[in-house]
Amino acid sequence: MAVSSLPGAPDKDLVNQIKRLEELFTIDTATLKKITHHFVDELTRGLSVEGGSIPMNPTWVMSEPTGHETGEYLALDFGGTNLRVCQVTLKERNFDIIQSKWRIREELKTGVAEELWDFLADCLHQFIETHHGPITNNTMDKIPLGFTFSYPATQNYIDEGTLQWWTKGFDIAGVEGHNVVPMFEAALRQRGVPVKLIALVNDTTGTLIASAYANLHMKIGCIFGTGCNAAYIEDCGSIPKLAHLNLPSNTPMVINCEWGAFNHRTLPRTPYDTSIDKASPRPGQQAFEKMVAGLYLGEIFRLIMVDLHSNPETHVFAGQDMSKLQNPYSLDSSFLAAIEEDPTDNLSNTLELFQTQLNISPNLPELQLIRRTAELIGTRAARLSACGVAAISIKKGYASCHVGADGSVFQKYPHFKARGAQALREILDWPAKQDPGEEDPIEILPAEDGSGVGAALIAALTLRRVQEGNMHGILHPERFS
Ligand code: BGC
Repeated sequence: MAVSSLPGAPDKDLVNQIKRLEELFTIDTATLKKITHHFVDELTRGLSVEGGSIPMNPTWVMSEPTGHETGEYLALDFGGTNLRVCQVTLKERNFDIIQSKWRIREELKTGVAEELWDFLADCLHQFIETHHGPITNNTMDKIPLGFTFSYPATQNYIDEGTLQWWTKGFDIAGVEGHNVVPMFEAALRQRGVPVKLIALVNDTTGTLIASAYANLHMKIGCIFGTGCNAAYIEDCGSIPKLAHLNLPSNTPMVINCEWGAFNHRTLPRTPYDTSIDKASPRPGQQAFEKMVAGLYLGEIFRLIMVDLHSNPETHVFAGQDMSKLQNPYSLDSSFLAAIEEDPTDNLSNTLELFQTQLNISPNLPELQLIRRTAELIGTRAARLSACGVAAISIKKGYASCHVGADGSVFQKYPHFKARGAQALREILDWPAKQDPGEEDPIEILPAEDGSGVGAALIAALTLRRVQEGNMHGILHPERFS
């Protein structure tokens, strides 16, 4: 979109600003390839005893579903934005689900730990009473629970997990460095909630397993949402940091990469990324996530707009009320999605969005600057995300496979899938498609509900493993009787 050709376009300064932003945010093929190369190295380093920037957490999920899993399970999905309780009935490659959702209040994200565990236990309690009737002491059989805890956790066992560090803006004291399961179970006990925690699960692990339940070609599970991450299956023989356990080398182990932590000097961070990092509760951490995940996309955009306004050369939003735009994290990725979705030539939907949400009335050249900025941020996120998918595929030697993806950015951000697919094509040097309907060798497809159905399946797989006497990675066998 050529700003200078617009009627009334003020001056070349806006055009120069667009050029500057294009230079900062565009990632060419050569850079994508370099980033991917270092990403592969970091995946490998993360599996070593010394470690690297990416945690590469073994999850103790050691088998894929056969498709014959059955039974009734609860899943508690504690992600970045909502809390969800699901009752999942597995029925041989099929399932029924009933669920309730609660918004996680902002104060809870930076509050005290007890309030968090109480909130989780209260929601479970409420759900069980609604769907199973009043909870009376000790009269109910305990329902097996998969707890989807979507933060980096070290797991020596599947039924425990030590929080490495909070992500996605959470900052609750007294949890990092601790096993979260006993804290959560204490809150359950206090309320007499009749559940037994079978597995602590990352959302990516759940996504991988739920997707593999329905589609055997699924090799990678990804979340592109408030946060970003992926899981895949490694052979225990390729995990030097588990060598001391002498597990058979061909035993599968799902690895929760925690790739949001990827950091390398090849990442083309802009001054806006640096500001986000500095102002975050955990500066220096989750470098990759802060460039691509939904929590940050709107904030990157906001910082650019504030910067352009304060630049005396550009006069962007001159004379307008900037008070709303000055508010950190006031714009989420759905705001950018709406800008990119505006089908009107004169960007009238974007104008309305700015007027209603920000009390700002941009002129046409400013609207075009806004649109281009959103495109640049969204495109960069999709292209960087593709580096992670390419890196796992290269590491595992997958020339073709399916990748199950979930999360608000993947589901709702316009063009995210097409931009990601284009970047994968560039990184992996795929030849041009012969026919537009042709599948790409590596396809990123919408996943099954990993945090609900996936967590239930993992609980089922774990119970089966215990019944078979395979006790690797089980801390409390008594829980499973
Ligand atoms: C967390 C991961 C999670 C991802 C997607 C990241 O911030 O560290 O554990 O999988 O968000 O929810």
